[in-house]
Amino acid sequence: MKIGVDYYPEHWDEKLWPQDAQLMARTGVKLVRLAEFAWCRLEPSDGQFDFAWLDKAIGIFAENGIDVVIGTPTNCPPRWLCEKHPDILPVGDTGTPNPIGIRGHRCYNSPTLRKYAGRIVERLAEHYRNCKRVIAWQIDNELEANICCCDVCSNKHREWLRKRYGTLEALNKAYGNVVWSGEYSSWEQIDPPFGRYNTAWLNPAYMLDFRRRAAEDLTEFAHFQADIIRSYIPDAKITTNTWFCDNAPDFYDLFADLDFVAYDNYPTTNIPHDSEDIYTHAVHLDMMRGIKRQPFWVMEQLSGSMGCWMPMQKTTRPGMIKGYALQAFAHGADTVVHFRWRTANIGAEMHWHGLIDHSNVPGRRFAEFAELCKEAEALESLRGTELLSDVAILFSTDSEAAFKLQPQTDGYSYMEQIKLLHQAFARYGLNVDIIDEYADISQYKAVCAPELYITDKAVSDKLHDFTRNGGTVILTVRSGVKDKHNNCIMEQLPTVYRELVGCHISEYDPIGWGTNSIRFTDGEIFGCKQWCDIIEPDTAEVLARYECDFCKGSPAVTVNRYGNGSAYYIGTIGERGMYEKLAKHILDKNGIAYIPALPENMEITTRTGNGVTAKFIFNNSDEEKVFALDGEEISIAPFEMKIKSE
Ligand code: GAL
Ligand code: ZN
Repeated sequence: MKIGVDYYPEHWDEKLWPQDAQLMARTGVKLVRLAEFAWCRLEPSDGQFDFAWLDKAIGIFAENGIDVVIGTPTNCPPRWLCEKHPDILPVGDTGTPNPIGIRGHRCYNSPTLRKYAGRIVERLAEHYRNCKRVIAWQIDNELEANICCCDVCSNKHREWLRKRYGTLEALNKAYGNVVWSGEYSSWEQIDPPFGRYNTAWLNPAYMLDFRRRAAEDLTEFAHFQADIIRSYIPDAKITTNTWFCDNAPDFYDLFADLDFVAYDNYPTTNIPHDSEDIYTHAVHLDMMRGIKRQPFWVMEQLSGSMGCWMPMQKTTRPGMIKGYALQAFAHGADTVVHFRWRTANIGAEMHWHGLIDHSNVPGRRFAEFAELCKEAEALESLRGTELLSDVAILFSTDSEAAFKLQPQTDGYSYMEQIKLLHQAFARYGLNVDIIDEYADISQYKAVCAPELYITDKAVSDKLHDFTRNGGTVILTVRSGVKDKHNNCIMEQLPTVYRELVGCHISEYDPIGWGTNSIRFTDGEIFGCKQWCDIIEPDTAEVLARYECDFCKGSPAVTVNRYGNGSAYYIGTIGERGMYEKLAKHILDKNGIAYIPALPENMEITTRTGNGVTAKFIFNNSDEEKVFALDGEEISIAPFEMKIKSE
C-alpha cells in the first residue's frame, strides 16, 4: 500500500523543494499530488504557459524516487482570465457573479471557461504525456453540483427540461405548477432558483431537477477533461477527489468513466462519548469502495488540527494519524495521500494543519506518519485484495438530494439511518458494502434499503425479485413516499413497497426531538426518536410495538415473508441496540458467520485475495480495549490497528 502527500511547490521557496523531497523519500513517501490550484503559475498570462517550475519540482521528486499525481488547475482560474472574460464566473442565487480570490470561481458550462480549461488541460497532458513519473491525474478539486444562475446554465437547464418533458404542459403537470399559480406559459419563464427564499419554499419537483441537471453537468465537465487527457495519454489513470458536501455529485455517474475513486478523508479528532453518536468514518470509506466496487484512493487524509472555515479542532490524538490511514486500507483503499506535507504559512488555510507545523520542525505527528509509511510498505502484498461481503446497504442519490430539499423532522438526516444500519452489521465484524440503489444485488444475502423516498420501478422491482428469490431486505421509515418528480404518491405508505413488507402505514408522527420507545415481543425495550410510523400489518408479523403516546400498542417493526425471503420494516428511528438486535437476528437466520458483538468502536474488516486473508482489527476510540477474539485475548491501544494475515 502506498502513502503520499499533497504538496504545493508554488507556496514554498524553491530551496525547500529538494529538502522536502529528500525527507519524504527517507520517510517512505511514494507519491505527491501537485498543482491543483496553480493555474496562475502555469499560465501567468493568456496563452503564455510556464511549466518550467513544475518540471523542476517533478524532476526533484523523480530524483528521489517519488511519483506524481497532477491536479488539473481548473478550480481556480487566474485573475487575468476572470477580468478578461467575466462570463466564466458562476452566478449565485442573488444574480451576481461569485467573487474571485476564494476558489471554485468557475461555471462548468461557460463556453469560455471550457475553452480555457480545455487548453490548460491539453497543454499539461501534452507536456507530461511521456513523463513516467506522472502516475495519475486528478480533475479539478472537490467538484460540487452547485446551482449556477448564469445565463448559460439557465438556458442549458431549459433545454434539458425540454428534452425531458417535451412540452410545457407535461412539465407543468410533472411539477404541479398549478400550486400558487406557478404554471409556465413559455420556456423563457423558467428561471434558476434565485434566492429570495430558502429552498424549502420552492417547488421540490423543480428543485430536484435543478440538482440533477447540475450533477450531470459536473460529471460532463469531469469527462470533458478526462477525454482531453486520454487523447494524449490513452492509458492515463484519471480520478477526481470527492467528498460529502451539500451539493453532492452523483458519485456513481461521476466515477463511471473515471479510472478510480478518490476521497478526501477527514475523520473527527474530537471523539464524542455518547454511545449513540456514530463518529466512525468507516461508513464513508465503505461507500467510496462501493462506488466502483474497486479499491480506491484517499487523496486527502487528515494530518493535524483542522481549522480555517471553523475554529481549530483538537489536534490528532496519538495513534490517529496512523490508525485513520490504516482504517482506510482496512476498508478498501490502496493509496492514502496526506493533506498536507507542511502546514501553509500563507493563505486562508494556514490553520488546516499538515504533517509538519509552520516551524518546519517535524514533531510528534510526523514521527507517527513515518511509522505509518513503514507499515504501509509492509502491506504491499495486500494490494488488489478485496473485501467480500454478504450484506449491502443501498444509497440513493435522488433520495439524499430530496431529503436535503425538504427536511423531514427535527434531527432527521438521511445518512443517520445508513450509519445505524452499517454500524449494526459492522458490530459483528462483517464487511459491509454500500452501493448504488441501481447496482446489482444478486450476490448478497441481506440488503438494507433504507429511506427509498424517491421511488423508481427498477429499484422496487429489483428488491421484490431479490426477496422473492430468498434474500432478506430491510426497509425503513420514509420508503415509497415520492414519485420520480419528487411529488407524493396517492397511496398508503410505503406505496410501491406495501406488498413486499406486508404492511401499510395508517398515520405517521414526525416527533422530531421528541422520544418514544418500542418493546419487542421478547420484552426488550429500545428508545426511539424523530419519526413514528403507525403500522397496520397486512400479512406481516409484528416484531415490536410502541410503548407511549397515542400510538402506544401499535406495531413499530415488522417482518414479512415474501416469496422465499423476508422483508423487514422499521417504522421508527431507534437506538443503536435496536438495529444490532435485528442485524443479529438476520445473520442467524441467514447462516452468515459473525463475531459475537465487538466492544463498542472496535472495527474488524477482512481483505482477501492473492492467497491471503488479512483481518484488520481497529480500535476506533480513545480508550484501550481488551476482548477475546478467536479464543485469544486481545488488548489494543487507542486508534491502534492490528493486522492478522493468514
Ligand atoms: C479539502 C480541499 C483542500 C483543502 C482541504 C482543507 O476539502 O480539497 O484543497 O482545502 O479541504 O481545508
Ligand atoms: Zn453557469
